[in-house]
Amino acid sequence: MNRLRLLTATALLTLSGAAGASTVPHWVASWQASPQPVWGGAFLFPTLVPAALQNQTFRQTARISLGGPRLRVRLSNAYGTQPLRIGAASVAARAGDIPQPLSFDGQPGVLIGPGQERLSDPLPLATDNRQALQVSVFVPGPTPVQTFHWEGRQTSWIAPGDQSLAQALSGASSTTARLFLAGIEVEAAANTRSVVVLGDSITDGATASLDQDQRWTDHLAARLAPRGVAVINAGISGGRLLRNGMGESALARFQRDVLDQPGVASVVVLIGINDISWPGTAFARSQARPTLAELQAGYRALAEQARGRGVRIVGATLTPFAGALPGTPLDDYYRPDKEVLRQQLNAWLRTDSPFDAVIDLDAALRDPVAPSRMAAAYDSGDHLHPGDAGNRAMAEAVDLEVLMGPSTRGVDLP
Ligand SMILES: *[C@@H]1O[C@H](CO)[C@@H](O)[C@H](O)[C@H]1NC(C)=O
Repeated sequence: MNRLRLLTATALLTLSGAAGASTVPHWVASWQASPQPVWGGAFLFPTLVPAALQNQTFRQTARISLGGPRLRVRLSNAYGTQPLRIGAASVAARAGDIPQPLSFDGQPGVLIGPGQERLSDPLPLATDNRQALQVSVFVPGPTPVQTFHWEGRQTSWIAPGDQSLAQALSGASSTTARLFLAGIEVEAAANTRSVVVLGDSITDGATASLDQDQRWTDHLAARLAPRGVAVINAGISGGRLLRNGMGESALARFQRDVLDQPGVASVVVLIGINDISWPGTAFARSQARPTLAELQAGYRALAEQARGRGVRIVGATLTPFAGALPGTPLDDYYRPDKEVLRQQLNAWLRTDSPFDAVIDLDAALRDPVAPSRMAAAYDSGDHLHPGDAGNRAMAEAVDLEVLMGPSTRGVDLP
């Protein structure tokens, strides 16, 4: 047997929980939109959501990565300061299908306490891999919007009254932010697992085509679904490793968005470019740039937490950004001294990282002739975020065996 075959065999054993694995189905995370606190009016970007909803239905589309015979949804009041009253919620198997009502302990509605989230009862709605569901949530009373996911890259709808069971909404307005829905889990075969991708706007899909599921995680999900592996996107635009800003830091949300998700076997970490670039810009004028040692310590802390839970953790080099965000108030996002830090961090990731493996996404996207820049074919045009072709190239650069190996560094077969 050659080396590749050996590695594949190991990976499959690891994924299926090795000999004696139970055949009982279990719940596996199949989709996520990581919750963020809604920011106040002074921030650079509009929130894209009303300050409050009342007697309104919010409908959104979510393409799950793996299907199953039953599903349940996770609704979040993570950053709410008062209880969130859900009057009704539903799932349609496809856009335009008749929505099926969800229940919570047998009731159509639920009260979610401040800082809490809530899983629905299991809904016997069979789904296929990569199926785009529609989830609707009706809120009856005055509902301040304090928790959201800003960069949905997907059109969502706000409609008057309780239209949670309507096939087609009437009187709706749209937004590209997400509300209420934080995750979708499916019941799946015992050997099914998830890979979580923890990241920033590059993972969240900024500049990927709207409503087209062109995030790099969507392309990765298409590759992994035939193997019974889900991919869940824990990207938050503007997200940072060490500091809060647009969303909590990766360190602060690692437990909730990664380790607490059911069925997680691996996590991919692609975060840090905003740590390097935000300080001094209109995002964070008075903040100091973290040092290489501080960034390394942050990655080490993630690796320790993952290992403590038996979750494999895979790093990724930070992708090129020379000339980023031209013609915007953030045109100082890139500077040569920031590039020096990115190169130092990437060199360390390639040679001495604390992770079980590292995916070289910098190498996948850079221009070979000018390696501090993204290759033009992969660039969305803002020199920071990949376009659809770049997102696809990132997913194709991943050796799938690297994602599925064992969770402790140093035990891979030679
Ligand atoms: C809720 O909205 C619907 C649709 O606009 C309206 O018909 C209904 O009267 C409203 N209910 C309350 C309690 O305001």
